[in-house]
Amino acid sequence: MKDKAIISSMFNRVAKNYDLVNLLITFGGVYFWRKLALWGLPKINKALDVATGTGAFIPQLKKVSNEVTGIDFSKEMLNIAKERFPSVLFYEGDALNLPFSDKSFELVTVGFGVRNFQDLEKGLLEIKRVLKGTLVILESGPAQNFIGKVIAKIHAGFWVPLIAKLFSSDPNAYNYLLDSTDNFYSSSELKEILTKLGFEEVKLKSLAFGNINILWARSS
Ligand SMILES: C[S@@+](CC[C@H](N)C(=O)[O-])C[C@H]1O[C@@H](n2cnc3c(N)ncnc32)[C@H](O)[C@@H]1O
Repeated sequence: MKDKAIISSMFNRVAKNYDLVNLLITFGGVYFWRKLALWGLPKINKALDVATGTGAFIPQLKKVSNEVTGIDFSKEMLNIAKERFPSVLFYEGDALNLPFSDKSFELVTVGFGVRNFQDLEKGLLEIKRVLKGTLVILESGPAQNFIGKVIAKIHAGFWVPLIAKLFSSDPNAYNYLLDSTDNFYSSSELKEILTKLGFEEVKLKSLAFGNINILWARSS
């Protein structure tokens, strides 16, 4: 199902209320995870938010970077981002083929985006090409411990469908979003992939009983 047209149209359909649903399904956690992801990073000049969606990472990015750019292939998600952040430069485009020159950003963030990439390694290498600095990935994935798995099952079986049904413009899309988390790499596999692709100083912090991961990596 990882077809570019299908995924972008699905995100077009969930754009309305996407942020509210995200906040509710994470019990507000997403707000703190984004802060933690960029915590302590030095002030820089240029940052890029890949798969920016409605621009949920932008407020945190503006605190650490003088200039912020976002890119996403969903028109409707981007329309919300543009309305929220008129001073930010947004591009409609594919993360697997970034319209930026080599080493043009000192910081790249991807929030809940990499697991949707049609080709994960291609997307990560493309990010590496435009980056001379730090990559921050915030992503959900399958927990590797018993408690985390039980919590994920209850969360996916009851809480997410309820919230999606009450507030999302396309509740069915959340079946895909849950499956894509289940079928995604574990945190340690993702860490290995980043290292294999040549990223340096790869660090990992797992949250929400191992269901949410933040990865930091450097590219020179
Ligand atoms: C779950 S949303 C996350 C949005 C935002 N980053 C956040 O943290 O809430 C995933 C976003 O990734 C975008 N996306 C997925 N694959 C993409 C790709 N190959 N190129 C550009 N955008 C992509 C989707 O359009 C969608 O807006």
